[in-house]
Amino acid sequence: MNGAARLFRWIYESEPDGVWAAPGRVNLIGEHTDYNDGLVLPFALQERTLAAIKQRDDGLIRICSSQNPNEIIGIPTKELAPGWPAGWSGYVAGVPWALETDIGFDVAIDSSVPVGSGLSSSAALICAVGLGLNELFGLGFSRRELARRTHLTENEYVGAPTGGMDQIASLLCIEGHAILYDVRADSVDQIHFDPIGAGFEVVVVDTMVRHGHAGGEYAARREDCELSAAKLGVATLRDVAYADLDSALDKLGDEQLIKRTRHVVTENQRVLDTAAALDADDWPAVGELLTAAHTSIRDDFEASCVELDIAVDMLLDSGALGARMTGGGFGGAAIALVATEKSESARRTVRSVFADNGFVPPHIFTVVPSAGATRIA
Ligand code: GLA
Repeated sequence: MNGAARLFRWIYESEPDGVWAAPGRVNLIGEHTDYNDGLVLPFALQERTLAAIKQRDDGLIRICSSQNPNEIIGIPTKELAPGWPAGWSGYVAGVPWALETDIGFDVAIDSSVPVGSGLSSSAALICAVGLGLNELFGLGFSRRELARRTHLTENEYVGAPTGGMDQIASLLCIEGHAILYDVRADSVDQIHFDPIGAGFEVVVVDTMVRHGHAGGEYAARREDCELSAAKLGVATLRDVAYADLDSALDKLGDEQLIKRTRHVVTENQRVLDTAAALDADDWPAVGELLTAAHTSIRDDFEASCVELDIAVDMLLDSGALGARMTGGGFGGAAIALVATEKSESARRTVRSVFADNGFVPPHIFTVVPSAGATRIA
């Protein structure tokens, strides 16, 4: 029995109609490129969010979660409106709003995706509920359309100005693959990615430094990118070709915008290079690209933090092929591609350096490229 079904029975004293699970994701490479119409290469985690759901016939929504089992939030579907309720339950309430259904339901949530660590716990939550309502109510949306609509939940209902990568990853990833998503072309390509088979692990170091994307630094970076595009007279930074980067930077004449633009344009190229390196089984090249991506997001995009930089440096010192922060940044997690036999000592080194610096102990674990959202009961 899973935690969501158990909670459902306990809180609502009945059986759910079904249970759906959606994963968080690690973004292998392609950071802060999605809202610039660029390229990303995420893969789905084995860690997932479960939503046990039962249809109601009175148009009411009731929401509860094992993280806070004493609170049941009730909202009539007729009263759904962006921004309400505030907090995590808004991510659930915004799903029927984006799917344009006024059918009510009871839902119980349970999750193993760490929250606020850059592994997309919010998309896992939205997509578990989204896939569940789509199947349970027979709404008939394709996974691509579900990804588009659940992205609206986050952007317009919750008000977090994120790009669309996380919902695509949670709904469309397949086991043993990373997904190359070209936002402008709206195309996806499954790239074979089996680090364990090649003798490596993807190690995640969750620094436990927490971020939020509803405003603040994330939104400020997005504004910098939009301002740069406007100054260059293009729709988005995707329109700046890698080959034309130097002349574009000359035109900007503002050090901050130069740095943001250089990150986005070089990062798009690194995504393509990483996909090609994976195709060629060239793992050292993949590692170098990850590390170059970290340097770029740290120095040019300024979206890292001291704990992430130290984690990356320690992982590299311990023999990782490459390491970088992953996700929105300003906290959250770093990833590294590490030979299996070096993984244990790399973890030990990071733990002891964090302790020496007086940081909160990190949560360190290995991730495996897993399948996207699915019904599990
Ligand atoms: C967050 C957002 C994504 C993406 C990343 C940065 O995770 O949800 O859409 O913009 O940050 O790459």
